Amino acid sequence: MKISICGKGGSGKSTIVTLLANTAQERGFPVLVVDSDESNSGLFRMLGFESPPVPLMELVGGKAALKKKMREPSVFERPEITIEEIPSRYIQSRDGLVLVSIGKILQSLEGCACPMGVLDREFLKKLRLSKNGIAFVDMEAGIEHFGRGIDEAIDKVILVVEPSFESVTVAEKIRDLAAGMNKEVTAVLNKMPSEEVAQKLQGELKSRSIEIIGTIPNDPLVFDACLEGRVLDQGKAFHAAGEVLDGLLSENMKIAKTISRA
Ligand SMILES: Nc1ncnc2c1ncn2[C@@H]1O[C@H](COP(=O)(O)OP(=O)(O)OP(=O)(O)O)[C@@H](O)[C@H]1O
Ligand SMILES: [Mg+2]
Repeated sequence: MKISICGKGGSGKSTIVTLLANTAQERGFPVLVVDSDESNSGLFRMLGFESPPVPLMELVGGKAALKKKMREPSVFERPEITIEEIPSRYIQSRDGLVLVSIGKILQSLEGCACPMGVLDREFLKKLRLSKNGIAFVDMEAGIEHFGRGIDEAIDKVILVVEPSFESVTVAEKIRDLAAGMNKEVTAVLNKMPSEEVAQKLQGELKSRSIEIIGTIPNDPLVFDACLEGRVLDQGKAFHAAGEVLDGLLSENMKIAKTISRA
């Protein structure tokens, strides 16, 4: 299962990726986290690593080399990529959880981020997960990744919505863009301060035909962990993420049964 996590800037995408990845890893699933955000670089810390992996962009020769290769049919020579085939300097791993990073913008005037988009799209397309493996893809903020086709190989799009009008507006756009690519979208309400606010936001999303898979409370432990760059593996938000994962897994079972019946 390849799951992308997207939404408005600051809505909690990286937090939800971390919570879901840690929960899935604790339950024994082989987990891959793909850092697809070319601007922010703190995901490795949230996942408990001391340093980031070397970006996959370096594996294909860097941004300038990739720009040239972009005219060729494929930037990766192999038809499929498994996690085991990625050289160790391009991954960070601990007990069944692996982190890879596509690439970061490092210098001013280094040119557009198109090569990252191409690499990301190809990597996700060619990525072959092990049995029961789950990949969580931390997307850049907003909607550009749909334009770049990064979501093409994604099985499920998780939309993170925080209690703000802007976040609902972005959610509506993502609903339409994902539908245009025949991708299933489900929302996670994040940073919910109370039951009343959660119900109000649920109403706003339901009236826009956006399905909701779970709610993550506003949790001071998350805030502290993000502030201090500590790993997120406890507290009420962590437990709520367990329920979101249950929902994702049961939906996946239903899809698998439908496929096997067909
Ligand atoms: N459930 C939560 N409870 C409390 N605070 C939260 C929660 N989720 C996120 N936050 C706060 O919101 C901030 C932004 O979260 P996060 O970095 O996950 O957002 P993002 O969508 O990945 O941002 P960006 O668009 O910059 O990548 C965090 O630093 C944290 O302080
Ligand atoms: Mg982020």
